[in-house]
Formats: sequence, structure tokens, C-alpha cells
Amino acid sequence: MAANKKLLILAGDGIGPEVMGEVRRVVDWMDRRRHVSFDVAEALVGGAAIDEEGGPISDATMDAAMGADAVLLGACGGPKWADVAFEIRPEAGLLRLRKDLELFANLRPALVFDALAEASTLKTELVAGLDILIVRELTGGVYFGEPRGIETLEGGERRGVNTQVYTTSEIVRVARVAFDLARKRGNRVCSVEKANVMESGLLWREEVTRLHAAEYADVELSHMLADNCGMQLVRAPKQFDVIVTDNLFGDMLSDVASMLTGSLGMLPSASLGPEDSSGRRRALYEPIHGSAPDIAGENKANPLATLLSFAMMLRYSFDMEEDALLVERAVERALAQGLRTGDIMQPGMTPVSTTGMGEAVTAALDALAA
Ligand code: IPM
Ligand code: MG
Repeated sequence: MAANKKLLILAGDGIGPEVMGEVRRVVDWMDRRRHVSFDVAEALVGGAAIDEEGGPISDATMDAAMGADAVLLGACGGPKWADVAFEIRPEAGLLRLRKDLELFANLRPALVFDALAEASTLKTELVAGLDILIVRELTGGVYFGEPRGIETLEGGERRGVNTQVYTTSEIVRVARVAFDLARKRGNRVCSVEKANVMESGLLWREEVTRLHAAEYADVELSHMLADNCGMQLVRAPKQFDVIVTDNLFGDMLSDVASMLTGSLGMLPSASLGPEDSSGRRRALYEPIHGSAPDIAGENKANPLATLLSFAMMLRYSFDMEEDALLVERAVERALAQGLRTGDIMQPGMTPVSTTGMGEAVTAALDALAA
């Protein structure tokens, strides 16, 4: 029996609790069949925490997150909390987790499963076999830069300010993650910014170029302006292997990339902190989709992005590559059987509920592990 792995589940709002329920199902399966036990704690985040605890994440929950080996998050936010103060909006809970756990590297793979190649809004031949990885800087840039705020000027006009700011070390550490990951994949990194307009983008380009020459000359490096990257992602996405970019461009480009795969409901993510002296990293895993309040509570949501996030956790936090692959293959198998939640439904396929998909994935796990 492996040592207990401390997992904190923050299901959050909207469809979060439903998709997380399917993760619990796989956790139970692993406990039974793979003799891996997780020590699972749960806490509130987002709107659920605002309602119960008066803020989007409590200090106690932050402490639990700091002490966990990995955090799994469902989704934050919804129209119910549209009018709460900006400082305590549901998303602020997620941003505090990212910042205080120092989760600077956000890995967002966009992988097209064969069974879903035709579900993309793009032509099948453009996306079939696609496997790209966006590495998004997650604790800097305009999301956290100071000064920020809204002020009223003399004469009554108002002024809103945010600051795009990056330092050498912030750029270098995320670029290093991208280069290291590229070496295990296609060995190509495309670094994305707006060096033609922004000094912070120029610095980004210079620092990535310098790191590459000093330590990663074996990896193929290219640079691209962010607007062009958005265009290239829908024109010829297979030209990319690893994309490394800042917080805001990464937010936008990963939503674009998600549609290549058929649905936002398919994309997992991992957010990793720096390695400590024992080689351990703080980490948070979450689907890139939101809380989908329109279908919350209806057993309709696609749990696969969250299950794939769980697989990323097995890989990156616990070095359980074999088990991670098992979960990914089980997802593939459920899709190959023609099972589809509404977001990826296609003619001739079999509609399933959230729980139906979770059951199909555990049945596939049984078959694969037999
Ligand atoms: C994401 C989301 C978040 C972000 C929101 C919910 C704050 O869009 O993870 O991509 O902007 O980073
Ligand atoms: Mg986003």
C-alpha cells in the first residue's frame, strides 16, 4: 500500500460538484483496484464559499491547500454572485489559490481524441491527431500587476488601470518548464508575446532567447506575436508543439485551442508551483471550462475534462504515469463506444448523463485493468 496522498477537493460552483462526483468514483476505483489510497478532504471555494463563509476562499481552506499534495478544483462563479464586490467575487478565490500557492506554470494540453475529430467546428483534417500543449504563466502579468484599480478623476471622469509587468525570473522559470516539457514531446517551443507593442513582451522575447541559447539549444525555438498565434491556431494548429506565453494571452489562446478539440468540456489543466528541496511541487488541477450554471444540477455536464485533470494529477504530482495513462485510455474507450454528453454530441452517438459517462469510464477502467 502506497503512502497516503493528501488530496484537497474544491468542487466549487455550478457543475463543479457534479463533475467532481465522477472523480470520487475514479478515486474509489483506484482504491479498490490499484491499491492506491488518497486521503481526500473537501472544502468550499467560489460562490459556495461566499454563501457559507462570507468570502470566496477562507484562510482555513488556504491552509488546507498549502498542506495538500494536490488540489483538485471544479469550477468557480455564476450569475448568483454577479453583484458581490469585485474583491470577493468567486473568481478571486481561484486567483488567490494560484498566487499564494505560487502556481506559476499552467499546463493546458489540447489533444484531439480520434473519436472526437469530427466534433470540432474546424475541418477534421486540420485537427485530427492534434496534440499541443500551452504553457501559460499564471501568477504574473496583468492579472496581478500593480498599480491597478478604478479611480475618479477631477471633473468626474473615471479611469481604470491594470499593469502588465514581468521580471526576468518570472519569464525564465515558466520558459524552463516549457523547454523541459518540449524535450519529452516534439522538442519544439513557440514563445508568444507582443514584442512589437509592449516592452514587457520585448523583455519576454529577449529572456526566452537567452535561456534557450544558454541551456536549451537542442530544442527548436520560434517566436510569434500573440495575434498571429490566435490566427495560426485556427488556420494550421498542427504546426505547434509547445506554446509558452503570458497570463492574459495564455487565457485567450487556451480557449481558442480548446475549440480545436471539439469542446471546452474536454480540456484539463495542471498548475504547478516551484520545486521544493525534496523535488515536490505544489499543484492544482482543474478543467478549463467554467461553472456552466445553465446546466448545473441537471446531470448533463461533461465530466471528462475533470477526469483528465485527475489523470494529470497522477502524472505530475504522484509520478503515476501508468495510472494516468489508464485513466486517459478509459476516457478514450468510453468515447470510442460512442458515448457522448450534450456538448460533444454528434449524429448517431449515444447520449449519456454526467453519471453515465463516469460509470462508462470506470467500466472501461475495469476492462483495461483486467
Ligand atoms: C481560466 C479562467 C480564469 C482566468 C477566470 C475564471 C478567472 O478563465 O482559468 O482560464 O481568467 O484565468
Ligand atoms: Mg480562461
